[in-house]
Amino acid sequence: MTTQHFPQDFLWGAATAAYQIEGAVTEGGRGPSIWDTFSHTPGAVVNGDTGDVACDHFHRVSDDVRLMASLGLTSYRFSLSWSRIQPTGSGAANQAGLDFYRRLADELLEAGILPWATLYHWDLPQALEDAGGWPARDTAARFADYAYLAVSSLGDRITNWTTFNEPWCSSFLGYGSGVHAPGVQDGAASVRAVHHLLLGHGQALQAVRASTPDVNLGITLNLYAMAPASPSEADADAVRRIDGLSNRIFLDPVLKGEYPADVVADLAPVTDFSFVQPGDLETIKQPLDFLGINYYSRHVVAAPLPDAVAEPSSYPGSETVRFVHRTGVPVTDMDWEIDAPGLVETLRGVAENYPPVPLYVTENGSAFVDKVVDGEVDDPGRVDYFDQHLRACHAAIEAGVPLKGYFAWSLMDNFEWSWGYAKRFGMVYVDYETQERIPKSSARWYADVIRRNGLAAQ
Ligand code: FCB
Repeated sequence: MTTQHFPQDFLWGAATAAYQIEGAVTEGGRGPSIWDTFSHTPGAVVNGDTGDVACDHFHRVSDDVRLMASLGLTSYRFSLSWSRIQPTGSGAANQAGLDFYRRLADELLEAGILPWATLYHWDLPQALEDAGGWPARDTAARFADYAYLAVSSLGDRITNWTTFNEPWCSSFLGYGSGVHAPGVQDGAASVRAVHHLLLGHGQALQAVRASTPDVNLGITLNLYAMAPASPSEADADAVRRIDGLSNRIFLDPVLKGEYPADVVADLAPVTDFSFVQPGDLETIKQPLDFLGINYYSRHVVAAPLPDAVAEPSSYPGSETVRFVHRTGVPVTDMDWEIDAPGLVETLRGVAENYPPVPLYVTENGSAFVDKVVDGEVDDPGRVDYFDQHLRACHAAIEAGVPLKGYFAWSLMDNFEWSWGYAKRFGMVYVDYETQERIPKSSARWYADVIRRNGLAAQ
């Protein structure tokens, strides 16, 4: 049997995010974020779940790092809670917050695991939301200050930094459909949020490079493969619209310094883009040391039906485009179609249509209904999902894509945002009653892949 090997220095990671795992929401001087407020809003999250305790990672850092080491991870992607570091989103740093992440980084480094930090995984300090949130321009400047504080304090030990995780979710789910915090439904505000998130990215990179030049900086986008439901021209136009609002509205400004003209035209009924000030796009287009891509699924879309009525949605101006399921394509417990060829397509699309930049898959994974049986959790569906997507990564590398690493989502089961604890994405099972961690069979499988730096031949 020959193995499909990955490049020698390929990074093998797993990812998490602060609000999804840390708990301890009032400890160490942490201030409230929009996810504290949102999760405590009746009806916002399935079962009324909150991140108050989550995986109690704040108190279990050492055990969790040992767990990562036992899997052989060579990198760990986590996020910093902004409101642990600046409890009200501005002003001096809270030392206890910085200390928590300093200790996490030190324990990772001692275990031989490269820390990979995200500055913002959706948890805006509530005080900044009260001042206008991402639709307000000043939030970008606040973010750059926070980035400067965090990286100048921790950049001696954390050398890889991502500004934002999935600004699509922060803008369009947070301020468009309102299914994520802060739960606002206002199409125009969601597009302003897009711009101010991107501006915050650019301003943060400028501030950090001026103070801590030796770190690697990038951003993580959630990109989707796209397909039309039929060969009709109308369905092709639906693809163009949804690709524009999901992928190109972020890729183009960050990598080319422009908003796609067709997306601006599609959004004309919603906003006139007058919030873009001279120089903003130059600020947004900073050199990147890497681009992170989160990939889960493909969108298959169709043109609106003639009598469709627009409801608040995550696709302003294109609310009535239909998202359809293909018959016979397997789905995960999120009802997301499993489509590994879409990952090859997505990686190649970025590599071929944009200026060259090293790429990392910073998230990829699947939710399944996992059960503990005799103390073990067997999750063949997740093993198969990872296997297919890692083969896709391998194929992309063979096709010349500069893919440098892969982070499985997620290290462990956690608070899945508006789904609460109802959806399990972990390679490690978490018993939320006892906080016991049980590595699933996918964790053992992944450890094996890492050990051989490759996949067994099929
Ligand atoms: C991504 C998020 C991550 C997790 C996975 C399932 O959109 O970045 O926090 O919720 O989806």
